[in-house]
Amino acid sequence: MEFAHDVAEVQEFEGRHPKQLYLLFFTEMWERFSFYGMKALLLAYMVSQLKFDEPKGYAILGSYSALVYTMPMFGGMLADRFLGYRKAIMFGGILMTIGHLVLAIPQGWSFFYGMAFIICGNGFFKPNISSLVGTLYANNDPRKDSAFSIFYMGINIGAALGGLLCGYVGQRINWHYGFGLAGIFMILGLIVFSIGKKTLKKKGLPLNAAELRKPRFAFITNEHIIYIASLAIIPLVVALFHAYEVMDWIMLVLGTLSVCYILFIAFKLEKIERFQLFAALTMIIFSTLFWSFYEQNSGSLNLFALRNVNMNVLGYNLPGLAVNNFLPPAWVIILSFVFAWLWPWLNKRGQEPSTPMKFAFSFILLGIGFYVFYLACKASTATGLIPLTTFALGYFFIISGELCISPIGLSMVTKLSPKNIVAMMMGIWFFASAIGEFLAGKIGSLMSVPKEVAEAENPVLSLPYYADIISNIGLGSIVIGVILVCFVPFLKRWMHDVK
Ligand code: PHE
Repeated sequence: MEFAHDVAEVQEFEGRHPKQLYLLFFTEMWERFSFYGMKALLLAYMVSQLKFDEPKGYAILGSYSALVYTMPMFGGMLADRFLGYRKAIMFGGILMTIGHLVLAIPQGWSFFYGMAFIICGNGFFKPNISSLVGTLYANNDPRKDSAFSIFYMGINIGAALGGLLCGYVGQRINWHYGFGLAGIFMILGLIVFSIGKKTLKKKGLPLNAAELRKPRFAFITNEHIIYIASLAIIPLVVALFHAYEVMDWIMLVLGTLSVCYILFIAFKLEKIERFQLFAALTMIIFSTLFWSFYEQNSGSLNLFALRNVNMNVLGYNLPGLAVNNFLPPAWVIILSFVFAWLWPWLNKRGQEPSTPMKFAFSFILLGIGFYVFYLACKASTATGLIPLTTFALGYFFIISGELCISPIGLSMVTKLSPKNIVAMMMGIWFFASAIGEFLAGKIGSLMSVPKEVAEAENPVLSLPYYADIISNIGLGSIVIGVILVCFVPFLKRWMHDVK
């Protein structure tokens, strides 16, 4: 009886989401299809086609991923102050489409230019589509959290399909077709958005449209200037790729500045708000470490999947890149249902863990996942190939960890930041993942396999290059989780009444 009542309530509840949510759902789904489809190919393409040394491949991957998630800070700011979310999404989407199509051109010059277009495009697209979801609901609307869960599902359906399709086409048919396929789906996302955006009525329009249309020189308006300035950044990003060592300094300086800026704001606040912001900052700093381990998925684990996972299923040899990029989002889709049930279930019994405790669990779960990979390596030294089922099992734990930090962190930021800096703190949350992605490149390069070993294509020889670092990541992550458990009482006190 009670169960039937719950279901009816859920159905009614779900049914009440505005149809515009699904417009944004499908736009983001196709955008993430292209984003993750392309990322699935990136490292393996650099190493096997462009013949980069592995450490260079990891450094470029780390720089690309770091820049991709640094730009949303600026794209978000420009949309808030000038463009409005809709124009920013269209412009970002167009840049991303160009980026994917440039990558599809089989020429030496196209590679860095393609990535630079995607980096700038993502800066405009990614933060603003999430903010646009937020505008569909009033701040205290109870549907808001579930809207973001539905949206997160769209992200991962896109990521799963993109990883699968582009991974397959890139690895088995032609790398450039794989990149091109990503571009085609990005165009699909843009078409969906441009047809449906009228239904958004006034939502996401620029705050001051007249100002935006005002000509500056001749027929060049303020709006044009933003677009031209963004295009001018593209060659700079390309130059950065050629001197990627500079990225160490850029990330260090931007990271230090962000921490100092948050502390500066915190010291101007009343006591309770100040400590709440300290709690948010501490958790954001920890999240950086989480992403640096987690993002091995799109780096070292791609090559590991190609070299050291037994992809033979019933006599058919599965494409490793597709499998490695399909598994994590597929687990997110499945496990989202489990967590959507688990947290309220624990809550009813007064046993739902606090936000910092969930953060601690995320590290412990991720650590267990990597340790599963490590144990599989230990047991497979004779063949050099770990079973696909164990590989999938490791990801089960890693993704359970993701679901204890990624959605929880987003809501933590909105709850612990003073109202007037929520958007900026959101940018910093993404920036923390940018630093994490950058560190992931550094950790990944510790698993570089020398050219002779890679060319020998013998799994027994390549396995040891992964096993030890994987075990260190596993143990390191569990230790960080335990340290975080010790911090929990302090963080809870700092958070005051926020759970
Ligand atoms: N995979 C999710 C997304 O693409 C969450 C995520 C965001 C993970 C940023 C890492 C960095 O939106």
